[in-house]
Amino acid sequence: MIARIRGNSKIEGEITVGGAKNSALPVLASLVLISEEIKIEKIPDIADVSEMISMIRSAGVAVNFEKNTVLARPSNLKGEIREFGSSIRASILLLGPLAVRTGHAELRYPGGCSIGKRSIDIHIEGLKKLGISVNEKNDMIEAIFDKVLKDVRIDLRFPSVGATEHLMMTSVLLNGIHTEIRNCAKEPEIVDLGKFLNSMGAKISGVGTDRISIDGVKKLNASVHSIIGDRIETGTYIIGALSSGGMLKINGISNNVMHNVTNELKKIGAKITASENALIVYPSNLRPFKLSTGPYPQFPTDLQPQMTLLACHVNGHSEITETVFENRFRHVDELKKMGADISVDKNKIEVMPSKLHGAKLVGNDLRETATILFAAATADGPSEIEKFEIIFRGYENIYKKLKDIGIDFEILKIDREVS
Ligand code: UD1
Repeated sequence: MIARIRGNSKIEGEITVGGAKNSALPVLASLVLISEEIKIEKIPDIADVSEMISMIRSAGVAVNFEKNTVLARPSNLKGEIREFGSSIRASILLLGPLAVRTGHAELRYPGGCSIGKRSIDIHIEGLKKLGISVNEKNDMIEAIFDKVLKDVRIDLRFPSVGATEHLMMTSVLLNGIHTEIRNCAKEPEIVDLGKFLNSMGAKISGVGTDRISIDGVKKLNASVHSIIGDRIETGTYIIGALSSGGMLKINGISNNVMHNVTNELKKIGAKITASENALIVYPSNLRPFKLSTGPYPQFPTDLQPQMTLLACHVNGHSEITETVFENRFRHVDELKKMGADISVDKNKIEVMPSKLHGAKLVGNDLRETATILFAAATADGPSEIEKFEIIFRGYENIYKKLKDIGIDFEILKIDREVS
């Protein structure tokens, strides 16, 4: 799909963010653990969610998804899913839970954005401790659950978001077993998953800290849950507004989960105010900055490409260091096509102030595509973005939302139907 973006736009107005992709995916994956009916609200209608729903349906969970609400009922579970899962990394989250419930799980090897080596060794190490052996065979991955007889302690070598969620979900139904996971990731989406599991009767404590304990229970009960707002979608709009000098109100998000981003932006001169469930971004004079990404509460890697765009618009030389992924600077080549002055040295970039002009661009991963979309909207003259459909993986209702905040675009060519 090719999108043509008019350019010379100011990003302003009012917008409402959807439920967090990175919370919805693990919450949906955990539905293979349920024994009673579950209702989940604020599930974003995005391509990655469709893929996860296809996977859990294929595993035997009955799912109805309408108007951002999922109603799920347990059914006859099977541990083998062959048709879906290779396009999202979060598919790995089903491996342990399905193995515990069915004894044997087999999935396509997880995919996702190509932002560097995304190994699953931390997941596999943890699963082993939980009595699950994992075999990788060609493009499939198999997990066999025997049993776990005594309490378990898992030390993660890195606070991986996915591994923390995966091991937490896998431990929930190990009835009578106490599991302790150390060096956990602390992202708000993990807290949301923990709240959901506990609302069904799971016994998890310590979510949001680096030490999570799980006392396995026999079954999970009926529950209703609502997904938190999307921090990364919010951050994308905040940075878009700041880079164009527009005033933007963003609804559907609490500053409690945005502190690490808004504080960093305020340090460089951004004017942002927060009320209970909204943020307002004002036109601001920004200073150059030095920024490093890292596990929460450090600055999110998923907003690093967008910050690169912002660095082009400030008056001076900025530096950004990426510490989470090893290959997350592919947006730099695209921004350079638009006239950006950026140099890359291993995991660090230096950005000089640059006036961006329209260009022919290619989207490669989700956040990069969002970045070049906002770069194109605010650049001088029109741009075309190839592989624009990647945006549907993480941004809901994007056509209407973009128009609402002043981005003028049209779709020139559709290669295949998406979402
Ligand atoms: C999640 C988010 C993603 C975000 C990332 C980091 C979801 C669905 N996705 O991805 O948007 O960019 O957190 O905040 O929530 N690693 C290993 N071995 C492992 C696991 C991870 O080496 O077994 C490495 C990865 O290659 C990567 C780093 O650890 O370099 C972070 O990965 P992780 O925190 O697991 O991210 P995801 O859960 O995949």
